[in-house]
Amino acid sequence: MTIDQLKSAYEAAYQKSATDIFFSPGRVNLIGEHTDYNGGFVFPCALSFGTYLLISPNSEQKINFRSLNIDAVYSLELTQLTTPLPNKAWANYPMGVIAQFIKRGVSITQGYDILFWGNVPAGAGLSSSAAMEVVTAFAFNELLGTGYDRTELAKIGQAAEHEFAGVMCGIMDQFASAQGQKDHAIYLNCDTLEFDLVPVKLEGIKVVVSNTHSPHHLDSGAYNDRVRQCQLAVQQISAVRPIKNLAELSQADFNQVEHTITDEVAHRRARHVVGEVQRTKDAVEALQQGNIEKFGELMTQSHISLRDDYEVTGLQLDSLAEAAWKVDGVLGSRMTGGGFGGCTVSLVRDEAIPTFIEQVGAEYIKKTGLKADFYIAEIGDGAHRIVE
Ligand code: GLA
Repeated sequence: MTIDQLKSAYEAAYQKSATDIFFSPGRVNLIGEHTDYNGGFVFPCALSFGTYLLISPNSEQKINFRSLNIDAVYSLELTQLTTPLPNKAWANYPMGVIAQFIKRGVSITQGYDILFWGNVPAGAGLSSSAAMEVVTAFAFNELLGTGYDRTELAKIGQAAEHEFAGVMCGIMDQFASAQGQKDHAIYLNCDTLEFDLVPVKLEGIKVVVSNTHSPHHLDSGAYNDRVRQCQLAVQQISAVRPIKNLAELSQADFNQVEHTITDEVAHRRARHVVGEVQRTKDAVEALQQGNIEKFGELMTQSHISLRDDYEVTGLQLDSLAEAAWKVDGVLGSRMTGGGFGGCTVSLVRDEAIPTFIEQVGAEYIKKTGLKADFYIAEIGDGAHRIVE
């Protein structure tokens, strides 16, 4: 949809014009998976697609939420914004964000009419929910003049996800959506929230996102289980060496203390995290040195560890990644995001892209009966106002 079409859709929904329009992107993570809530490194980039928010004040004491992607409409009194709605209502995402403003002492005295539209495929592991959270946080920050910086807006989005969606996620998705920059990936230390923007201009190579069309279900509990298993490992290791996060351990440290993790599952989860943090550091260094081949190999190793130790892949993601590894001109391929469905991310040489799409697509249908979709990722900017 173009901006003009969105404006017309707003007029059709509310019989008036939107006064402001905002956008915040989805993200693809290149490497560093399930490390964020362990205080480790991640390396995501913002995509050129995301969620738009059109808004204008109203004279009711209500916030009206509509979306062009979902039929359900919600109309909430200003006094009702801090209690999550039942039955996984989509409005919990923006409401959860507004509730965080209220929690920080901001009073909402004005009603608004809001319309969302997103072009991030939902359930694809490309952070459509973070895009919705961050665009809401960005918009209210502008409209209420609260002056939060982008990192704070990311934290607001993350807290909304915890408190209104029940997913105990790390900060990566909201951070990428808030802080992304065109043609750059974000090398983020999730413990300190310090970050570097690293240029991703690959000569003759594209970042290809392949969608399994098997939706991931982060709220199914499997994600929160992983968070708890990592906490158990921290707790067991702390008997001999007090740590706050698994990511504090180098590979050598881990080798010394791993015997203390008596829970076999927690042991494998911790092994993934420690290895993945090192791979992320190595990958960023390789990219900065122009060694894209090494970056690709580390991506592939990341997938293997997520498959065998972290167990968040499954038939669909494994079929896509394994088919990609066989194609000449693929430097690396791995699942991206939370897992359990969603997307893979691959580095593919330009000349190999048609073969990649054909071979990976065919093998995927053969193994799963599903049709995959392929996008060439364009790395875009973080949250912003649409000015015309
Ligand atoms: C989801 C979460 C993120 C992160 C990834 C896995 O996308 O929202 O915080 O944990 O999974 O790396």
